[in-house]
Amino acid sequence: MSVHYNKEKRVFTLHTSKSTYQMKADEHGFLLHTYYGAPVDDSDFSYLIVPDDHGFSGQPGELALERTYSLDFYPVEYPVHGVADFRIPALMAGKKGGVPALDLRYHSHEIRSGKYSLPGLPALFAGEEDTDVQTLEITLKDAYEEIYVNLLYGVYEKANVITRAVTVENHCAVPVELKRVMSMSLELPDADLDMIHFYGKHTGERQFERRNLLHGITEISSRRGNSSHQHNPFVILCEKETSEQAGGCYGISFVYSGSFRMQAERDQFDSLRFVCGLSDEEFVWTLQPGESFTAPEVVLTYTPDGISDLTRGLNRAYQNHLIRSPWKNKRRPILVNNWEATYFDFNAEKLLKIAREAAELGLDMLVLDDGWFGKRDDDNSGLGDWKVNEKKLGCSLRNLAEQIHGLGLKFGIWVEPEMVSEDSDLYRAHPDWALTIPGRLPNHSRNQLALDMSNPEVVDYLKRSLDEVLSSADIEYVKWDINSNLENVYSAAHPELSQGAVRHLCVLGTYELKEYLVTRYPHILLEGCNGGGGRFDAGMLYYAPQIWCSDNTDAIERLRIHYGTSFGYPMSSVSAHVSVCPNHQNGRVVPFRTRGICAMQGTFGYELDLSKMTEEEKAEAKQQIAVYRENYDLFQQGDYYRIASPFENHDFTAWSYVSEDRSRAMLGVVYTDLHGNPKPNRIRWQGLQADALYEIEPLPETLSAAARCQGLAEHTRYTGAALIHGGMVLPKPQENYDSCMVMIRRV
Ligand code: GLA
Repeated sequence: MSVHYNKEKRVFTLHTSKSTYQMKADEHGFLLHTYYGAPVDDSDFSYLIVPDDHGFSGQPGELALERTYSLDFYPVEYPVHGVADFRIPALMAGKKGGVPALDLRYHSHEIRSGKYSLPGLPALFAGEEDTDVQTLEITLKDAYEEIYVNLLYGVYEKANVITRAVTVENHCAVPVELKRVMSMSLELPDADLDMIHFYGKHTGERQFERRNLLHGITEISSRRGNSSHQHNPFVILCEKETSEQAGGCYGISFVYSGSFRMQAERDQFDSLRFVCGLSDEEFVWTLQPGESFTAPEVVLTYTPDGISDLTRGLNRAYQNHLIRSPWKNKRRPILVNNWEATYFDFNAEKLLKIAREAAELGLDMLVLDDGWFGKRDDDNSGLGDWKVNEKKLGCSLRNLAEQIHGLGLKFGIWVEPEMVSEDSDLYRAHPDWALTIPGRLPNHSRNQLALDMSNPEVVDYLKRSLDEVLSSADIEYVKWDINSNLENVYSAAHPELSQGAVRHLCVLGTYELKEYLVTRYPHILLEGCNGGGGRFDAGMLYYAPQIWCSDNTDAIERLRIHYGTSFGYPMSSVSAHVSVCPNHQNGRVVPFRTRGICAMQGTFGYELDLSKMTEEEKAEAKQQIAVYRENYDLFQQGDYYRIASPFENHDFTAWSYVSEDRSRAMLGVVYTDLHGNPKPNRIRWQGLQADALYEIEPLPETLSAAARCQGLAEHTRYTGAALIHGGMVLPKPQENYDSCMVMIRRV
């Protein structure tokens, strides 16, 4: 099995298909981290910890005379404040009003088959058929007080993933205050490592950045109440030489959608400590006697085989063990969304005009975006009043849905449950349901306030409201948005002294509402959204199999956003739409073909007034839809390869999908610069079967590279080895932001 315990040496060794992870409870009871990396045997790796008398690195408790023993440089599995370890702690807690000092020693452990679960929180799961999955729970206890810390490890041998979570229990007779509870800590010795992370902004999420971790603390975090547009809670740590195709790398993903903190400290002896968990800046959580607290889950993965392999492994793990929606393996509808087509200015007639064109083009669904409820003709009012505005629409929601269904289309709607407009009936009736700080004018963002999701009455109201809407018409899809960060975080529902818990309680309230929705309406395809991709995290994927990736629909900017997103998340979760040009976000003009090819990277759709398209565009759209439909399994279930990065290659970006059995593959190319007398652009395929023969498949002329380059002519044959090592020369671009596709099939 994957979890081995050596009783004599008190060594825990966890094995996955591509990694080994090890800890040891030493003779003093401290739990030390001894190894995480390429697969090795069960040898006790504690020989790598070398005692020494390092100045200004002190000794814990009873070890005053053991001057060579110090947790200030020993690799600690779950570091705390209070044992002469001056590096970043994972846990700061203590009796209320006292010093948050702890001295955690090994107490007991349990190895179970299957995966632990975290009530109320998203987490990876294991089915009964997943017999390779085990749970290890190690309990540590404070040497002085009845405070217990349970470290949870979910070991997925085949999926090559180790999950971690932590619970803290108060068995004292008095309250205990938690000031910081990280979900994990990881120590890597001799760590001259790079960190890859994904920063961004609204309409520019998940931009790739790779940097060496220098001495001191490097931090990626959000204090916005959402995981945020600005920093994504996923990072990769890797060796300097590690590339897409080779080298060791660690992926660390926080399964959480609120404020978070990831810190990497390179210490005085060049070891790295990496902690990840809830943001602790305002955090204070009081545990009454007998209570416990659960810190959300982190997913860890290591592969010795390069970043591309890490991505594919994580994608499969999410597909099999995180995304629950019955839609994950079903064909997702190709939709048209009316947002960029009409914004708030619509009625049933306008929507039906778009729907008729959609049916004509062969689309599957119309999504009615913001503005159908309450008094909502702009974004200054109406949020919270989840009742259809029949006056504006000209009919009921049921009637509209029926007419859309009558055209052979499915019907979906947009909601933003967690927010409220001051100009709304809900706010007028319950001003205390919004987060506002007493005695201060609230800060606004998009002229709205956040509802207090930590208040059970608010969550109940939203459950009832959603029930009413969803039972009023046949609705097959819900786009769940949230359009500002959590401001003015003070809850009228909680006593003054518990305000440090509100930010996290709000996230738990959101999860409760999402759980309610997906349990009660399993047939509904739920799409996540946060002003585009401000809440694109593993926590959300537990509820929604796809997320609107960005409010930026410009195909060229999307290349970077898709590229960055692809490292940590399956492309089947990336919603991407063809929109109008000049683009509404940046004014750029891009050929229709390119907009289609770029959107086909993810879960495909359109977001423009179809009735205003030219005949030429309609013909192209039909071809795009046909190609996407025919190759749906390849696009949605295939392995994604980053072939040319938009951050490194200024002339073009390229990616491919390869089917799991490697019998089919698709290459997408978008040119991002033009040159007089250009050099030939060459790419090398990845993931093909070297000793197989592949043939170029026909594609409609507007999408195909074959029509534009002799070497790529239909039915030309190449060996996999030739395509991998020799590569392919791409056709010359013929216009600004030109693009093409190549499809190959094994013969
Ligand atoms: C957010 C979403 C958009 C759209 C608008 C509606 O910005 O990301 O797609 O739904 O809200 O207000």
